[in-house]
Amino acid sequence: MLSVHLLTLIALVTSAKAAISPFTSRPRLQTTFSGLSDVEPFSLRLSPDTAKVCNSTTPGTSGFITADDGQGGNNSIFFWAFESKHDAKTDPVILWMSGGPGASSVGYGNLMELGPCRIASEGGYTVDNEFGWNVNATILFVDQPVGVGYSRGQRIPTGLRDSSLAMLRFLRQFMTAFPELADRDFYIAGESYGGSWVPALASTILRSESRSSGQRGALMVQEDGPNLSPNSRRGPKINLKGIMIGNGLVRRSVQNIGFFETVCSGPASLFNSSQCLEWAPRAMWCEDNLAVCEVDGMKSSACKDAESKCSAISKVVVEDMHLNPYDFRRECHDPDSCYSEMRHIDEYLNRSDVKMALGVPENEPFVGISLDVFKQWEEVGDLWRASDEYVNHLLQSGIRVLIYVGDKDLYCNAAGMRLLVDRGLSWHGQPIIRLRELVPWYLGTKSAGLWKSYEPLTYAEVAGAGHLVPFDKPEEALTLINSWIHGRLPAL
Ligand SMILES: *[C@@H]1O[C@H](CO)[C@@H](O)[C@H](O)[C@H]1NC(C)=O
Ligand SMILES: *[C@@H]1O[C@H](CO)[C@@H](O)[C@H](O)[C@H]1NC(C)=O
Ligand SMILES: *[C@@H]1O[C@H](CO)[C@@H](O)[C@H](O)[C@H]1NC(C)=O
Ligand SMILES: *[C@@H]1O[C@H](CO)[C@@H](O)[C@H](O)[C@H]1NC(C)=O
Ligand SMILES: *[C@@H]1O[C@H](CO)[C@@H](O)[C@H](O)[C@H]1NC(C)=O
Repeated sequence: MLSVHLLTLIALVTSAKAAISPFTSRPRLQTTFSGLSDVEPFSLRLSPDTAKVCNSTTPGTSGFITADDGQGGNNSIFFWAFESKHDAKTDPVILWMSGGPGASSVGYGNLMELGPCRIASEGGYTVDNEFGWNVNATILFVDQPVGVGYSRGQRIPTGLRDSSLAMLRFLRQFMTAFPELADRDFYIAGESYGGSWVPALASTILRSESRSSGQRGALMVQEDGPNLSPNSRRGPKINLKGIMIGNGLVRRSVQNIGFFETVCSGPASLFNSSQCLEWAPRAMWCEDNLAVCEVDGMKSSACKDAESKCSAISKVVVEDMHLNPYDFRRECHDPDSCYSEMRHIDEYLNRSDVKMALGVPENEPFVGISLDVFKQWEEVGDLWRASDEYVNHLLQSGIRVLIYVGDKDLYCNAAGMRLLVDRGLSWHGQPIIRLRELVPWYLGTKSAGLWKSYEPLTYAEVAGAGHLVPFDKPEEALTLINSWIHGRLPAL
């Protein structure tokens, strides 16, 4: 387990004695932290027994961080962290953010893709995942924003900017509770709508770190007592080094052009030639017109009209051809349930014995995908809004960016991702990376995909993977992110 702050450990010992039944939803440990100028006071409640629900030598540390939401209520954010199996004292920390907006990272990212234990294919229990990303890093999953997974609060954030600030507050609190993780090399990774979550949060961290570079001091910790008065001492630093975006949506107006190429090129193209001839004028129209969403906003009627015209190709693939939009090699008759693993995870995390082991109140259902969050994003005009300004900010600031893509995904397809990398971003190296040729990278002696890079930006394709790269190609995904963190992708 991650070792928490010394005083917290003492608190753990005393409250563990008081807990009689292993199945108790009563908080086992409540610790209050306060007294830092840039960390909102919060309390930490750790889960009683992660080993009971995660079949791994590293079942991790999980719990809730509860804090004032600034509106007279509380936010309770659920997290699950797994220490590195290699060198837990110095290896970097990776925060993973599943997409949606509104999908649970603790559920799907962790138990289906890159956590150290994954849901068994028949459901009901978890199995060890030797390719979990905590082989060489400490990994952190957070259900965010409130309303997702086990996280609760009175108010859903009013869009991406607001949710990024909430996550920044959470991260400062988390690193205050686990100070040995502060100052580590810090990476943020995510998938799908993670193309917005990840760069927006990273850019928010970068701005806030450049503002606050003063003296950082010690911390007051108190168990179940009144908060200590805040003073001017600063909280922990977040040492942001890079971001990873997997099959991400960054700029729809550019990436959408890739749909036509995805269904109409290659020997095994999904559309036949008469279909391609029929759809070509529409593809051209979208190439010329979808940018209206970036000019007029996502809620404008011109954008809504363009959106429905330009999602028509994927409708044909999903509704007429009944293919899985996340992996066009597979058949799927209901796009909301193409993966039985997701249903198994919903059931598993909704079970009362699992909730008890994780310290989740028994009456709180597990919300795998929050439609309230999705609707909120739609209402404020943040749904599918371009996030390239954040990526550009990071690249211009020298923060490393890995954009990777499984090449069998329809929704966030490789053709669109190449366009994004070659002409959808605006930074000093763009004219150069556009000229670079893609070359293979390897897993052992086997080619695993194509890649290219220039300065802080790396682009990599994972051959034979769909939208969920760590699910489809676990060993390749782990090799890719580890090699990228440590320098360059493996050659033959
Ligand atoms: C917020 O949470 C703290 C700590 O769990 C608790 O003491 C307080 O009563 C809560 N406040 C509200 C308004 O729920
Ligand atoms: C990753 O972890 C393995 C197993 O502990 C270790 O042998 C290897 O050196 C680590 N690699 C890096 C790049 O740290
Ligand atoms: C742990 O996983 C193994 C297979 O990896 C499985 O046989 C065993 O039943 C699992 N244990 C639990 C408690 O789920
Ligand atoms: C192309 O595909 C469409 C839709 O499946 C089908 O109706 C049409 O007959 C096909 N045309 C050719 C030339 O194969
Ligand atoms: C979760 O459990 C509650 C109560 O046991 C039930 O009402 C709800 O339908 C369950 N949700 C899922 C997704 O299984």
